[in-house]
Amino acid sequence: MKITVFGGSGFLGSHICDKLSEAGHNVTIVDLHPSPWLRPDQTMLTGNILEEETVRKAIDGADMVFNYAGIADIGEANNRPVDTARINVLGNVMILEACRKAGVKRYVFASSLYVYGKSGGFYRCSKQACELYIENYQAMHNLPYTILRYGSLYGPRSDRRNAINRFVYEALSTGGITYYGAPTALREYVHVDDASAATLAVLAPEFENQNIIISGNQPMRVSDLFKMIGEMLGKELVINYQNDPNSGHYQVTPYAFMPKVGRKLVPPLTVDLGQGILRVMEEEHKEIHPELASEGGYLVATDD
Ligand SMILES: NC(=O)c1ccc[n+]([C@@H]2O[C@H](COP(=O)([O-])OP(=O)(O)OC[C@H]3O[C@@H](n4cnc5c(N)ncnc54)[C@H](O)[C@@H]3O)[C@@H](O)[C@H]2O)c1
Repeated sequence: MKITVFGGSGFLGSHICDKLSEAGHNVTIVDLHPSPWLRPDQTMLTGNILEEETVRKAIDGADMVFNYAGIADIGEANNRPVDTARINVLGNVMILEACRKAGVKRYVFASSLYVYGKSGGFYRCSKQACELYIENYQAMHNLPYTILRYGSLYGPRSDRRNAINRFVYEALSTGGITYYGAPTALREYVHVDDASAATLAVLAPEFENQNIIISGNQPMRVSDLFKMIGEMLGKELVINYQNDPNSGHYQVTPYAFMPKVGRKLVPPLTVDLGQGILRVMEEEHKEIHPELASEGGYLVATDD
């Protein structure tokens, strides 16, 4: 199939593009920035989803369109509400309109578990608005869709806006972690490899016009997660809980009453959280200490 992925240079989008290409699909990436992970069998278009002509050209001839572009960080969305409405909401509507005109067979959208609750600030507002537009494009114009509500992702290619990356980086570089919520906050972290494998599965026809949850299956309190990181590093970490009620993050569950129920898609094989975090540690350690290289499982100083 010919698939256009907006935001395909980003953390989640790039992993999904890999999975789509590995499955034999013909992938075109559209993003503000060229993808550092572009494969030779993928096409890169540099451009803005707010430019009508860019979107129209990118969609031309596509069977399916994925939208993974936008402001993905809650803090950033809260600091930039107008840009969040413009890029996340208006950008989404512009792509939907182009898909309708081009007769695209399915629109796949990266939503979030935050649509369920009262937390998540302007980020949640933008995702809820996007979902309503998508459902109405289907109802009014018969544009098929799949909405994917992702939980907290982690893994390779994420930057330090990602929670697990930041925790590991802080623990490695300062011996402590600052957390804006409370120790009892509960999360189901999902490895990006599992999330992108599950995303590939929704190309099957039965996922048309469905709202699907893709989250982890190992619920964990953040205080236990920090204990785990400390044990892996072999140090007693100093944890500073801010208990900030305005952090925008949920405490135990993102779920509150919402009429449109989503089904949860659990991939058959999942990356164990502990092993996934060890890989993040290795990557962060390499970035903090570029002078060290790994040889036969040991860290050694390079000669240059
Ligand atoms: N990372 C998570 O834990 C998570 C969880 C739930 C949902 N999501 C959603 O998944 C999507 C991707 O998230 P991510 O973590 O990969 O974020 P990311 O910031 O790594 O990727 C977003 C990409 O969108 C591109 N982009 C931004 N504005 C654009 C514009 N105007 N035109 C074209 N491209 C633009 C960026 O350059 C970037 O490459 C987002 O919609 C996000 O809300 C992410």
